[in-house]
Amino acid sequence: MEVATDLEAWRAAAAAARAAGRTVGLVPTMGALHAGHDSLVRAAQRAGDFVVLTVFVNPRQFNDPADLRAYPRDAAADRARAAALGVDLLVEPPLSQMWPADPAPTATTVHVAGLTDGLEGAGRPGHFDGVASVVTKLLVVTGPGRAYFGEKDFQQLAMVRQMVADLGFAVAIEACPIVREPDGLALSSRNVRLSAAARPRALGLSRALAAAAGAPAPASALRARMRAVLEESGVEVAYAEVVDPLTLRPCDDAEHGLRRALVAARVDGVRLIDNGPVLITEA
Ligand code: PAF
Repeated sequence: MEVATDLEAWRAAAAAARAAGRTVGLVPTMGALHAGHDSLVRAAQRAGDFVVLTVFVNPRQFNDPADLRAYPRDAAADRARAAALGVDLLVEPPLSQMWPADPAPTATTVHVAGLTDGLEGAGRPGHFDGVASVVTKLLVVTGPGRAYFGEKDFQQLAMVRQMVADLGFAVAIEACPIVREPDGLALSSRNVRLSAAARPRALGLSRALAAAAGAPAPASALRARMRAVLEESGVEVAYAEVVDPLTLRPCDDAEHGLRRALVAARVDGVRLIDNGPVLITEA
């Protein structure tokens, strides 16, 4: 596995793979790699890509400095995991090359309007601008034919699709299903911060989604059902929403069909999100 810790070395290695006739597959991550990331790498390998895995904890997408400080980092474990997976190029770009002005603001920001207003966008001001800006830079430097994103960050995935379409990036965005622990907890780098006491409460998120998926009902009833399960689990609810999977517009009780339920909650100070398909019926 080649490791690039310099932006020009990274750009050159990806360009060399393209020149050799390979399709470059980008797997962007913030490290603390887990089985969810493995599934993105494996999807890229199944497609036959030259796999470029980036590890960069992007300060611009953290609206809360304490959350940035607490974000798990383990470069040695990430390197070992990436090598064991058979990643072709591991990229650890330095902050000084990603955002040279940091901690001052970077002059250029990519903003995707509409899709980023609600849900995570409502509770985390500036978060999606930070994600859109860093994903743009990762795409520009890497030049991938495909880029792999997990469905766990459902709103992020919708935003990236919109951005790529609007800006004309020649990259296919590949969505990969959520990977869960056997008890249902969606894998997240943040899970390592859950205490033994908080861990069972975190299951409230997947249970709320299962309760919504288990019995179709009007959107407002599913919202109420999810909120009740979350509250019973003892988590601090941020939202329990049912939306159109493409526009992320909240559903009303006059619609029916397959939609997406999304939940977010704080569990002992750790913010978790999850989502899944639901069937809504007319009221
Ligand atoms: O999903 C993530 O880990 C991050 O938001 C991403 C896409 C790597 C951008 O920093």
